[in-house]
Amino acid sequence: FKLTTVEEFEAATERLLETGAKVGADSWQLRVKNQTPHCKFGESGVCCRICSMGPCRITKKAPRGICGCDVHGIVGRNYLRFTAGGSATHSDHGREIAHTLHEAAADGNYKVKDPEKLLRLAAEFGVETEGRDIYDVAHEVAEAGLMEYGKPFGYQVFTKRAPEHTQEIWDREEIRPRAIDREVSCALHMTHMGCSSKPEALIRQSLRAGLSDGWGGSMMGTEFSDVLFGTPREVETEANLGVMVAENVNIVVHGHDPSLSEMICEYADSKEMIDYAKSMGAQGITVSGVCCTSNEVAMRRGIPMAGNFLQQENVVLTGACEAIVVDVQCIFPALGPLSKCFHTKFITTSPVAQMPDSDFIRFNAKTAGENAKQIVKMAIENFKNRKPELVHIPDMKQKAVVGYSVEQIEKKLDGVTNTHVDETGTMMPLVDCVKAGVLRGAVAMVGCNNPKVRPDAAHIELMKKLIANDIILVVSGCSAQAAAKAGLMDKRAKDLCGAGLKRVCELVDIPPVLHMGSCVDISRMMVLAARIAKDSGWNISQIPLVGCAPEWMSEKAVSIGNYVVGTGIDTYLGVEPYAYGSEEVDGLLKGGLTDWVEACYTVEHDIDKLGDMMIERIEEKRTALGI
Ligand code: SF4
Ligand code: FE2
Repeated sequence: FKLTTVEEFEAATERLLETGAKVGADSWQLRVKNQTPHCKFGESGVCCRICSMGPCRITKKAPRGICGCDVHGIVGRNYLRFTAGGSATHSDHGREIAHTLHEAAADGNYKVKDPEKLLRLAAEFGVETEGRDIYDVAHEVAEAGLMEYGKPFGYQVFTKRAPEHTQEIWDREEIRPRAIDREVSCALHMTHMGCSSKPEALIRQSLRAGLSDGWGGSMMGTEFSDVLFGTPREVETEANLGVMVAENVNIVVHGHDPSLSEMICEYADSKEMIDYAKSMGAQGITVSGVCCTSNEVAMRRGIPMAGNFLQQENVVLTGACEAIVVDVQCIFPALGPLSKCFHTKFITTSPVAQMPDSDFIRFNAKTAGENAKQIVKMAIENFKNRKPELVHIPDMKQKAVVGYSVEQIEKKLDGVTNTHVDETGTMMPLVDCVKAGVLRGAVAMVGCNNPKVRPDAAHIELMKKLIANDIILVVSGCSAQAAAKAGLMDKRAKDLCGAGLKRVCELVDIPPVLHMGSCVDISRMMVLAARIAKDSGWNISQIPLVGCAPEWMSEKAVSIGNYVVGTGIDTYLGVEPYAYGSEEVDGLLKGGLTDWVEACYTVEHDIDKLGDMMIERIEEKRTALGI
């Protein structure tokens, strides 16, 4: 067993870019060159364009905007708007899933696959279940969930899942999130010209808007997806471009919302479609994925992961992609023109993500079956248009075991002989390992790729370093895909761990890097942290656990960072948010927040140093606990 190295990833990319050059394709690698160096005003957050007296940018000579706003107000407002963008995006995804649940029917496109979870949610939302049809319950739970977005009074229901201490902090600091849409609206209101310019107020709302995502919209996305598509369980899969099969029709799903990808997988697997593919000269159909929609179907169906965010163009560059089908978020508009250089069909499906040079097939819950069938057929019929001389699929893939929902982790722990044999569904075996020092702690590694960091290298190098130091990883999003591509989700990766973590992997029968799902599934990590805190009696901020996003890039990532920090988990970033232009805002984010929520951010570009800092922080937490 051998890990795939980043150098090998890069060599494969180089080879694909040669094909790109032949057909005159553009690439992110080229565009980065055109865009560097980046605008310093933008990067430091000191440019304001929220009214038409501006735009204003702050320099030594011009310390205030025309309205008189200083640099701290401008940077703080920009930071809050960035957060609001992310919170809105995750939460709207959650809302779409709630609507899909509302459409679920025994004879419909979407069914209830995890009725147990539905009943648990019904209890949380106060929905009557006694003697009722499961679909009636589903519809009422969906409605209750949808009300969380706009309810005029009260707070997010899911915040009650947090330990008492965390809830007290949220109330004390006035950051317990109210209606989700209200927090986003309030953020836009506060940052309108002539409203808030006090950094404390702006950053406080950034935390609250973030928390409305993590303990609101994202959590809704995760929970309702589990009800509809099943709660993930351990499943084997594969990762990297080598999962595409040259002889087959290749359909790549990309984006975030599993409603579409689930349907595509369903139809691509039908005898009717496979026979049709054979009649067109292919041997079969391979569905693989990019980004989080890929994580969703990998976790539930074992559908292979072709790659992560910065590999989306590579999928088309193989020349063997019949269709790249996208829903929402993280989709490069570049895929339109790029697909025109090949035979690839670029199929957009959501009114929320419409792009030029694509075929738009509007997807919705009512017509999902027909839409999916139409898309799969389109891909099959496109197989004959391949240009064989352009086909090259890098022979590179690794095995991975994925599907570690909180429920699955719990089950794995139940299987371990321990001192708590009488109790099931407890995190105590894990806590015991931490107390004994067999496990030093955990890192929740999440987020994207960013050309500002050598792609995937930060994720993979950090993971290798941490597991060698007996620190277990829970991961999601593109970080998870980086791990899977490298081979870190193969159970044999235990040999790269320190003796303690290796022992835990053997005992519990897990890989050292646990795939917890997509970006909205970082809500699973919040639930896990809450459960560990409750079972151990520690506060969340005391657990030897930190968050990390070494290659983050999107607004969603900032929203996530804010709710992870807002939940009491120190968070380590490899890329600066656009906030260093204000000492006050920067100081709050990188230290001041600790007084409010017992956690803050650390940003470090030197990835090795970032790893050392996380290990140091975990050891500090252990010392403070006296373990
Ligand atoms: Fe300039 Fe103030 Fe308008 Fe911003 S709000 S563009 S700082 S005048
Ligand atoms: Fe994602």
